[in-house]
Amino acid sequence: MNVQWYPGHMTKAKRQMQEDIRLIDLIIELVDARVPLSSRNPDIDELGKNKSRLILLNKADLADERQNEAWKAFFEKKGFFVVKVDSRSGSGMKAIQNVIQEACKEKIERDRRRGIKNRPIRAMVAGIPNVGKSTFINTFAGKACTKTGNKPGVTKGKQWIRLNKGVELLDTPGILWPKFEDQEVGIRLACVGSIKDDILNMEELSLNLIDFLREKYPGALSGRYGIEEEGSSVNLLEGIARARGCLKKGEELDYSKTAGILFDDFRSGRLGRITLEWV
Ligand code: G4P
Repeated sequence: MNVQWYPGHMTKAKRQMQEDIRLIDLIIELVDARVPLSSRNPDIDELGKNKSRLILLNKADLADERQNEAWKAFFEKKGFFVVKVDSRSGSGMKAIQNVIQEACKEKIERDRRRGIKNRPIRAMVAGIPNVGKSTFINTFAGKACTKTGNKPGVTKGKQWIRLNKGVELLDTPGILWPKFEDQEVGIRLACVGSIKDDILNMEELSLNLIDFLREKYPGALSGRYGIEEEGSSVNLLEGIARARGCLKKGEELDYSKTAGILFDDFRSGRLGRITLEWV
């Protein structure tokens, strides 16, 4: 899903989050492991104060494992619980169950002191569009989950997915908006495919990606396309165009098609596991 953001969208999404947050104990915030800062909106910290917090480094399968570890440590230092996951394959899902208990220890303890037994932990998933919220909910909840709704004390229409005896998940995720004020954020989100391609200059963006790749991941481009990594980024784009036979009528190179191939390869992991934002 690609959503473009306007002030109206943001206000509506924020109001919805504020409403839903009142019902829950734990926020499960998904970030894209390839761009862990750009795919966050720090407004969630204000919205979710007093709640237990778990950050999932999603799409960890596409990101550089050393950076995954570094980002995990980074967020843990800030007081978050963190788990690396691949929501598509389900890797990391098992670890989450234990971490949820750990993250909500205070609540469980408080309930116990007050004599409240077995009140489930209520959680909501939140994140910017395309970060993998629906995929995560489907994989994490699995097929065997039971949906519960319209229980007393629950806002009408809210559906809860019972994950096990102890945990319930709100079935609609909270949608956060990216922070577009910073141009770099926009560029990185565009690279990972979280902003509609058709409003962007993909050719220019591909030059950014080429420069980044040959600096931080030397060999990724030559390995995939059999080109030299010397020269200007335009030279490299030309090299990829020739290697992939991207020609228009006559001998003119088709840069737009070439950029498309490059981004396809990058986003699907065919250039290797790459993190665009380093700790
Ligand atoms: P959203 O609800 O937050 O908007 O995101 P959604 O689940 O729709 O996921 C967006 C895209 O990211 C989907 O790809 C999904 O398969 C992919 N994705 C989600 N989690 C992971 C992950 O951990 N690893 C990888 N590699 N991909 C992930 P798509 O191309 O839009 O759809 P599809 O062709 O995969 O169905």
